[in-house]
Amino acid sequence: MERVLITSAIPYINGIKHLGNLVGSQLPADLFARYNRGRGREVLFLCATDEHGTPAELAAAKAGMDVAEYCAKMHAVQAEIAQGFRLSFDHFGRSSSPQNHRLTQHFAGRLADAGLISEVSERQVYSNADGRFLPDRYIEGTCPNCGYDKARGDQCENCTKQLDPTDLIEPRSAISGSTDLQVRETKHLYLRQSSMRDQLNAWIDSKTDWPILTTSIAKKWLNDGDGLQDRGITRDLDWGIPVKKGTQEWPGMEGKVFYVWFDAPIEYIACAAEWVDAGKGSDWERWWRTDMGAQDVRYVQFMGKDNVPFHTLSFPATILGSGEPWKLVDYIKSFNYLNYDGGQFSTSQGRGVFMDQALSILPSDYWRWWLLSHAPETSDSEFTWENFQAGVNKDLADVLGNFVSRITKFCRSKFGEVIPEAGAYGAQEARVMADLQARLDAIKRIWRR
Ligand code: 2FM
Ligand code: ZN
Repeated sequence: MERVLITSAIPYINGIKHLGNLVGSQLPADLFARYNRGRGREVLFLCATDEHGTPAELAAAKAGMDVAEYCAKMHAVQAEIAQGFRLSFDHFGRSSSPQNHRLTQHFAGRLADAGLISEVSERQVYSNADGRFLPDRYIEGTCPNCGYDKARGDQCENCTKQLDPTDLIEPRSAISGSTDLQVRETKHLYLRQSSMRDQLNAWIDSKTDWPILTTSIAKKWLNDGDGLQDRGITRDLDWGIPVKKGTQEWPGMEGKVFYVWFDAPIEYIACAAEWVDAGKGSDWERWWRTDMGAQDVRYVQFMGKDNVPFHTLSFPATILGSGEPWKLVDYIKSFNYLNYDGGQFSTSQGRGVFMDQALSILPSDYWRWWLLSHAPETSDSEFTWENFQAGVNKDLADVLGNFVSRITKFCRSKFGEVIPEAGAYGAQEARVMADLQARLDAIKRIWRR
């Protein structure tokens, strides 16, 4: 039986996700999982919460909670909402799981052994007002690439460029807003992904069937300026996966944790181990190790466009650099943004429609249908209440609802309450069936398999 591994980008733990997050990864991944199951394939569909890094710390502080407690609570909340939307994950894991701790430390050890990790004394932004270093989202400022004035220290949401906090123009603390910042030296580990540029370039070039959105973002950052830059994979934070080389301590790295974007994609693998440990399946290596069965698996990832650089460059660098036979992704489906009423959806600013609100307004199928039929595939698309209302009234109620109602009334008047046995079909039925089959075949061609 053909096997398909499907992962959706794992949502940050920092609050309930909005419809833009949903339509950019989890929902199309769910559609694809259902489609493949319907085709009789064996599917493993995984998602999880992304629990480390500054998003988690900042949100827990705002909620006045301990980070671990906050994450446990929000994981349960997100899992329940996912059920409400009928997202058919085989497992909804947690990047803070012991399985991910072990695997992340394992990958770091392998990369170090392969000479792909360097220890760098780096300049980091320190906030005098806050009395601490400001990694990633703890700092905001203007993007040096596109001029967006709310870029974060790790990435500009507007142009997708990966940044370092020291790249920002007019930086300010995201905690206090203070601009009383200075640059101090601290030691960190860097993944030497620049040394893998040719390998990554060749790999991306071999993916001729990928969506242009995916390959164009990957190529843009591969060939940007001096090419692929080495990236810091450790942080001065309390919450996260402690820096270790496999099971060994890492001298000089005491008290530091791995960068959230180093451990988050590794959770795709750890999640399969969690699925087994939760008693829902067996033999996770069969999905992830090409020496243990995964060579026959087709692996498809779903994500929003801001996630593409991490999935086309950093994560493959981790996998390839390990020198071990882990499964690499076969197809990356990425999405543009769904905007909200003339602006962006925003979790931090509470702008848009959030998944819990949506479910309290209408059953999930209304949302699933509208979102999937307006998925921002070729360009950004927009949610407005007027569009949503018009779409539901016209397409769902008038067209589909009317069609079903007429057919069922007609059938009842002709055949009574009992559905007739399928028997000899007349010419008209044969024509309808041939037409439906042709459409199914067309869909199969679009999905390529
Ligand atoms: O953008 C996000 O919501 C990230 N938490 C996605 C992480 S996907 C992956 F790498 F695991
Ligand atoms: Zn930018």
